Amino acid sequence: MYRDPVESLEPLHHRQAAIRTLRVGMIGIGTVGSGTFRVLARNRADIAARAGRSIELVMVAARNLERAAGIVGDSVALTADAMQVATHPDVDVVVEVAGGTGPARDWVLAAIAHGKHVVTANKALLAVHGAGIFAAAREKGVIVAYEGAVAVSIPIIKALREGLAANRIEWVAGIINGTTNFILSKMRDEGLDFAAALAQAQALGYAEADPSFDIEGIDAAHKLTLLAANAFGMPLRFADAQVEGITALQGMDVACAEQLGYRIKLLGVARRQAAGVELRVQPVLVPATHLMAQVNGSMNAVMVKSDAAGLTMYYGAGAGSEQTASAVIADLVDVARLDGVHAAQHVPHLGVHAHATNALAVLPRAAVHTSHYLRVPVHAVNQIQAVAASLAEQKVPVRQVALAAERPGMGPQVLVLTGPVEQGTLDLAVHALQARAEVAGAVTTLRVESLEG
Ligand code: HSE
Repeated sequence: MYRDPVESLEPLHHRQAAIRTLRVGMIGIGTVGSGTFRVLARNRADIAARAGRSIELVMVAARNLERAAGIVGDSVALTADAMQVATHPDVDVVVEVAGGTGPARDWVLAAIAHGKHVVTANKALLAVHGAGIFAAAREKGVIVAYEGAVAVSIPIIKALREGLAANRIEWVAGIINGTTNFILSKMRDEGLDFAAALAQAQALGYAEADPSFDIEGIDAAHKLTLLAANAFGMPLRFADAQVEGITALQGMDVACAEQLGYRIKLLGVARRQAAGVELRVQPVLVPATHLMAQVNGSMNAVMVKSDAAGLTMYYGAGAGSEQTASAVIADLVDVARLDGVHAAQHVPHLGVHAHATNALAVLPRAAVHTSHYLRVPVHAVNQIQAVAASLAEQKVPVRQVALAAERPGMGPQVLVLTGPVEQGTLDLAVHALQARAEVAGAVTTLRVESLEG
């Protein structure tokens, strides 16, 4: 916290006492909040040694006070009024782990207005309202830290903002939603159906309060928005992201991808092009031999391609109670170290100082340039060449054509892998293909990502 000159006239021993303990107020004591309480208590001495001072949870706001008391005991003040935590004079830093973008925004802005630092794992809040929140924080000279918002256990924000600060970053791509990766893994490995796999993910505490955020790709897009801003020094452009989840994905395509030597993953990709940035979340084929294809269950992984460091990859749990607490507490340690330091020396919220933000535009879907997988239902197996010829006529580079292995109840299916082509060109070609007499049903297309340096 930036301390004003009047305050700094206090006697030295008072000031030393004031920095001895970082007093934390927490809003929410659900999966993440209770994990944060447990880890703070368990690793108290190690955390204090790293922070240079002790970090103490002094106040918690919870909807169910009885349940909260069962978690934190009687050593922590409890209130049902989150705004009290956000504004209380005994709180130095507010941890917001309640979620949502409504009241959470008011609490965070109130905490900032009261000169408090904020730590949050709320990716939706920052992806949607981050610009205003960070501007308010800059004005007050306080930190808003959010390592827990992206790929929880992986310190990817720190990696982008600090570890890779020397680099020009070309792209960031990752499996950044644990719930959908868990569902895809269960469907593939155990033959579970979608609903059963989602129910398991919810029972394990991976899913958002509204699981449609997970399965529709929205949660991943929130995280990708934060990654792209930190990678490219650009504003938060969540509203411009192309977002597709896994609800329309068919088991048939999972099997056909395997046949061709690929695995389907829900991937977030932010790639810098000459004219702007691709910002997209969608199920894609990745080569089955690629490290990204080996990321299973609720695990996350992020790859970063940068000019000096080259290709780097980060792997870890993407959801979970103590896994998120790990990031929240790391942020508290940063706050403990930097509290009292002039704001100009803080790490900028989005990696670059506000005046140096690069107003990069997000490219429209039609301009995205990747390879593609197509599954084309046909009437007869000998129509395979007609499919390839139709695509080639429309300037789509055809790399591989094959017939899908027969499946009960399915007619013949032609599988195509293309070379890199603009989405706009592919869309026109698919439109033309769809009109041909040989084609017996809807053509399915998915992007293919090689994730190479
Ligand atoms: N619902 C999120 C996920 C939780 O499944 O990844 C962690 O952000």
